[in-house]
Amino acid sequence: MCGIVGYIGDKQAQDVLINGLKKLEYRGYDSAGLAVYNGSVKVNKAKGRIDQLETLLSESPLEGTMGIGHTRWATHGQPSDENSHPHLDQSGKFAVVHNGIIENYLEIKEELMAKGYQFSSETDSEVISHLLADLYNGNLVATVQEAVKKIKGAYALAIISEYDPGKIVTVRFDSPLVIGVGEGENFVGSDIPAILEHTRNVYILENNEMAVLTRDSVEIMTVDGSIVAKDVFRVEWDMVQAEKGGYEHFLIKEIHEQPRAFRDTLASRISEDGRRVVLKELEQGRDLLKEADKIFIVACGTSYHAGIVAKYAMEQLARVPVEVDVASEFRYRNPIITDRTLVIVISQSGETADTLAALRESKKQGARVLAITNVVGSSVAREADDVIYTWAGPEVSVASTKAYTSQLVALYLTALYTAQVRETHSEDEIADLISGLQQLPEQAEAILEQKGQIKAYAEKISSHPSLFFIGRGIDYAVCMEGSLKLKEISYIHSEAYPAGELKHGTLALIEEGVPVVAIATQPEIYEKTISNIVEVKTRGAHVLGVGTEGDRELEKSVDETVFVPKTHPLLAPALSVIPLQLLAYYASVARGNDVDKPRNLAKSVTVE
Ligand code: M6R
Repeated sequence: MCGIVGYIGDKQAQDVLINGLKKLEYRGYDSAGLAVYNGSVKVNKAKGRIDQLETLLSESPLEGTMGIGHTRWATHGQPSDENSHPHLDQSGKFAVVHNGIIENYLEIKEELMAKGYQFSSETDSEVISHLLADLYNGNLVATVQEAVKKIKGAYALAIISEYDPGKIVTVRFDSPLVIGVGEGENFVGSDIPAILEHTRNVYILENNEMAVLTRDSVEIMTVDGSIVAKDVFRVEWDMVQAEKGGYEHFLIKEIHEQPRAFRDTLASRISEDGRRVVLKELEQGRDLLKEADKIFIVACGTSYHAGIVAKYAMEQLARVPVEVDVASEFRYRNPIITDRTLVIVISQSGETADTLAALRESKKQGARVLAITNVVGSSVAREADDVIYTWAGPEVSVASTKAYTSQLVALYLTALYTAQVRETHSEDEIADLISGLQQLPEQAEAILEQKGQIKAYAEKISSHPSLFFIGRGIDYAVCMEGSLKLKEISYIHSEAYPAGELKHGTLALIEEGVPVVAIATQPEIYEKTISNIVEVKTRGAHVLGVGTEGDRELEKSVDETVFVPKTHPLLAPALSVIPLQLLAYYASVARGNDVDKPRNLAKSVTVE
């Protein structure tokens, strides 16, 4: 996601902040900016790389020994100079940098606009600076405490104000923030690399905690004002480890970021009462969603696998036929597109050449195109008619994990919204699925706790030449993703098979000791899946069953089990894929592979 740096001391803040932001470049960003106090708060910010900001600063330097800096990864509003942080209030007295998403920003913005506040960006973050100005009561810390009572969502904030120079006020809720302790100087960062050059002594803020930094002190308290006595954490990692948040690889870090990515992708897309999906992004295309007689979902690789899950959700919930196509095939097969066809393209990067070509072909033939992408302002986002962003944050590892599960969430929301528009399901049924979506973050956390067991299994199979993933219905869609992940990073050959299809040929490959991963989360076809598991087991396969918590029958039918928490069957893929991601990761590590940069592959495939 975005990056935050703050400095207060006796050095020129501009230099410290720019260096700190450079240490966060690996996370990806589209714009950068600084605010420095020197009698008044001055801001310099620009779309583009940090180099561009440096050019601006060489022309008009920001002098002063206290300031905040930010690299932005766009969520609300395109990458642009105006949308870059820091954001000032109208009077220029408060400067704010923000990571995360303010879910109720539209509501707050409307209230503030009614009071005469003028906004200069399309961001959710700008509401904070105006809100501070509106609530200012002569005490900066108390004002920040009042402001955070009004905002909902995820935030890491660093704030400076002309009203109380000599202080940086920071707050954290669901978005990381660390405070670096120096001598005669203190630091704030959204990640340790931003400050590691200066200090190894840090405080790690927890949710609802805030820190007030002066040159010589750091005071930590809750947002209610109770002082928190916190131990200093001594960072022993080197810079490379710090970039990965202490994890060994970006991939495992990103797998662990999935609960947060679920929360962000759901944020502000569900009504207050939890009974309806609110997708403002689809309002313009609403008529077609109601009238469509066919939906094509077009994508590549992992995004294609998300599309297959979406076919089940869309057809079941919205009762509209869906065809899923690999993008590199779609445009060459002369698909039948009419004015009642909706094309959904899915692309994490938004730059995949095959997907872009399919999008262009669909538009040429007159289709309305909805894009699901993770990158604001990407080619796919710019060229589609409608866009739903997955707020997974930048994905560094070539193998896609958090982007995939965020795509699933965005697609479930789309299917539910379409069901609302087409009135195919009752409000209670929709509310039930929404409640399931809201439980995903915690459920994903519970699965991540089982990683030790999955690691042990991965080490066992890592020397095998080949492995099978079997499942039925939507479980088979997850098998395809699990198999791709394993091939991509562990280089172990694997095949995903619809469990009922094995007996038509592939069963010949099952012999003593062949590892089979069997997913069985779908109640409607559960007994049939168990029969297929027994088929491979009797032929000597060693089976790992992935099932729903409490499933004793599965436990009896397989050699080992991994359980995922109970959810609505349609939502199960968002959970059952996590053990498969972990399996691929640990198998890759066991084989000594370059996990984050697998051979022959690129993160963004911009050639056809
Ligand atoms: O950026 P995209 O989602 O369009 O990328 C599509 C595929 O290239 C991508 O999902 C690829 O399959 C991943 N490396 C899989 O982990």
